[in-house]
Amino acid sequence: MTRLTRADLEGLPAYVPGRSLADLTRELGIAEAIKLASNEVPYGPLPGVIEAVTETMRQSHRYPDMGVVALRDALAARYGVAADRIVTGCGSVALAETLAKATCLPGDEIVHSWRSFEAYPIISAGVGATSVRVPNTAGHGHDLAAMADAVTDRTRLVIVCNPNNPTGTAVHKAELDRFLAAVPSDVLVVLDEAYRELVTDPDVPDAIDTYADRANVVVLRTMSKAWGLAGLRMGYLVAQPAVAAAIRKVLTPFSTSLVAQAAALAALQQEDEVKRRCALVVAERDRVTEALRKLNVEVPESQANFVWLPLGDKAAPFGASCEGRGVIVRPFQPDGVRVTIGTAEENDAFLAAAEIALEQLG
Ligand SMILES: Cc1ncc(COP(=O)(O)O)c(C=O)c1O
Repeated sequence: MTRLTRADLEGLPAYVPGRSLADLTRELGIAEAIKLASNEVPYGPLPGVIEAVTETMRQSHRYPDMGVVALRDALAARYGVAADRIVTGCGSVALAETLAKATCLPGDEIVHSWRSFEAYPIISAGVGATSVRVPNTAGHGHDLAAMADAVTDRTRLVIVCNPNNPTGTAVHKAELDRFLAAVPSDVLVVLDEAYRELVTDPDVPDAIDTYADRANVVVLRTMSKAWGLAGLRMGYLVAQPAVAAAIRKVLTPFSTSLVAQAAALAALQQEDEVKRRCALVVAERDRVTEALRKLNVEVPESQANFVWLPLGDKAAPFGASCEGRGVIVRPFQPDGVRVTIGTAEENDAFLAAAEIALEQLG
């Protein structure tokens, strides 16, 4: 242990990214692998993105526009909200960190469900806040009534991940209405909608349309998933102007890079292609869910671009067995395994590997 850094970070689990082909090559000598571990969409950059980024590189010795004016205007027009309500950042995970910075002092509490996005406890610890983890329901979804009950005088932030990573489950409008009515008006509620574009259940509300006008709601979105910009890092949030202004005060300066701004503007021109790609993912999501259920895995209905296999402590050996067959999935020992939906071919390879792994594990 070193006295140079905070002692309380000792016990904090590090963020575990999905494993890469390089990891498999090094450890197993495997030269080719299918990566279904990080919830990326498998179809490559959207048309026009590479050209926009390449053109922007001519100015890469200059700082980006810190106000992100053109991109915020484009997002504002897209969602029909004022541009001063939008804040962009280096991925939505950085914005979640900034939200914690803007709301919490050491000893405050951040309420979120568990299992949920593994960054939430890390973000809480980063500002010295306590991460209050409310167990999911038996169906692997948020227990919103229990989350509302978990709010105390110390709670400054409540995060609802809808759809939830890693279980894919989504909460409906009626439940969310009740939950938002129960949370005190001086507690900020973040609706993290990283996978919104993949939602097909009409009862799952679009939080920008439905809740963003409430004073204590912030909607978090990303361009990493459906918009294919994971490697360029661009996320955004919609909040009330006063909340957005406070968030901007603690935002890392220039954290939406020149290339991220240009790529996001180009991607936003490709809405039809995004919809086409999302429809492909959704069709494959339904096919993979069905196939896994036939293998007796109780896969909950997913509204995202991944499925959840609640395998308990078989999660790690299942992941290792799939890796041995060149398919990288994401085990969360001892709860289950998250598998990203890939192309039809990739999904077939995963299903073949899954069948063998389940047989081996009994
Ligand atoms: C629920 C959720 N929120 C936020 C993020 C972060 O996305 P990014 O930082 O790439 O925008 C992810 C990424 O996996 C996620 O699953």
